[in-house]
Amino acid sequence: EKGGWSSFMAKEISEQPEAVANTLRTRIVDGAVVLPDLGDLAAHLGEVDRIIIIACGTASYAGMLGKYAIEKWARIPVEVQLSHEFRYSDPIITPTTLVVSISQSGETMDTLMAVKYAIEAGAKTLSICNTQGATIARESDAVIYTHAGPEVAVASTKAFVAQIAALYLFGLYLAQVRETLMPAEVRGALKELSAIPAKLEKVLKTSTRIRDLAKWMSDSRAVLFLGRHVGYPVALEGALKLKELAYIHAEGFAAGELKHGPIALIEPGQPVFVVVPSPRDPNSLHAKVVSNIQEIRARGARILAVAEQGDAAVLPFADEVIPIPLAGALFEPLLAVVPLQIFAMELATAKGLDVDQPRNLAKSVTVE
Ligand code: M6R
Repeated sequence: EKGGWSSFMAKEISEQPEAVANTLRTRIVDGAVVLPDLGDLAAHLGEVDRIIIIACGTASYAGMLGKYAIEKWARIPVEVQLSHEFRYSDPIITPTTLVVSISQSGETMDTLMAVKYAIEAGAKTLSICNTQGATIARESDAVIYTHAGPEVAVASTKAFVAQIAALYLFGLYLAQVRETLMPAEVRGALKELSAIPAKLEKVLKTSTRIRDLAKWMSDSRAVLFLGRHVGYPVALEGALKLKELAYIHAEGFAAGELKHGPIALIEPGQPVFVVVPSPRDPNSLHAKVVSNIQEIRARGARILAVAEQGDAAVLPFADEVIPIPLAGALFEPLLAVVPLQIFAMELATAKGLDVDQPRNLAKSVTVE
């Protein structure tokens, strides 16, 4: 079943262009989003005044990206909560609250219990699931399926990019319904989204270089990941992948937080991945992240930058630059996460570990 691949994870990483393409297929018609999947829930979306996204692990990082997109496009306040924290926080839920759960398996007990709690409390519920007919999908008012295909490796990869694609479709759908974006703006964003599969193909081609890097770094004791805005969930995901696959202590930080404590961790030789925003970023975060790079570089950090191709400002300060194709700010995470997935997989492989079945973990966590 692995085809010619060394692991399911390697195969699933390579399937990411299709995972996104299949998730978008049939849902974009004449430059607009169509989601018959929403059924009766569609009629209620005009009145939703608050969205709570619940998920665990990698799915929660997709949720963070969903928050940026939905808030920007549809101007509805969104909060992201870990499923297992949600019901213990006495959440404020009204009939105009929409609770969106994200789960690859659709069977994660923490998320299922959170969905049940939300239903009890009177919220409308939508799930984003990858497994047809899963319990969470059945419990929710509506489901938008990601069409990533079965994900076998414990580490989530193709499901993650498909979740982001589904959340972005939903965000643009809300923007259509609520008329917070002009039709031309929706069309433009959908064009960006549709271009992602081909760009992912390009990113996958940089994997040989990352394999070499991972081999050199296989004795690292700790690796840090920095990102800002949409690069922040990518940093968290890069760190989670490295922990679960290579058993290396890894932490993701919002780059702006460095000076509030984590910079004390930097010592000569400390590897730090930095997810660099595009120099074209409308929020001008690029310069701030480049200055973070300079600060940690001055303290001896070894910088591995994931940056837009042709970003000349990063070159003088980075030990390695992994280029990603140009994309609009919200779309960069779909590309930037791939080198980090490959890095974790290759480093684990270099250590002789089983990347499909890391120790202590199960593919679907069906206990609370
Ligand atoms: O099946 P789910 O999406 O609900 O699973 C959620 C997490 O358990 C999952 O993403 C986990 O963090 C992965 N092992 C990460 O690679």
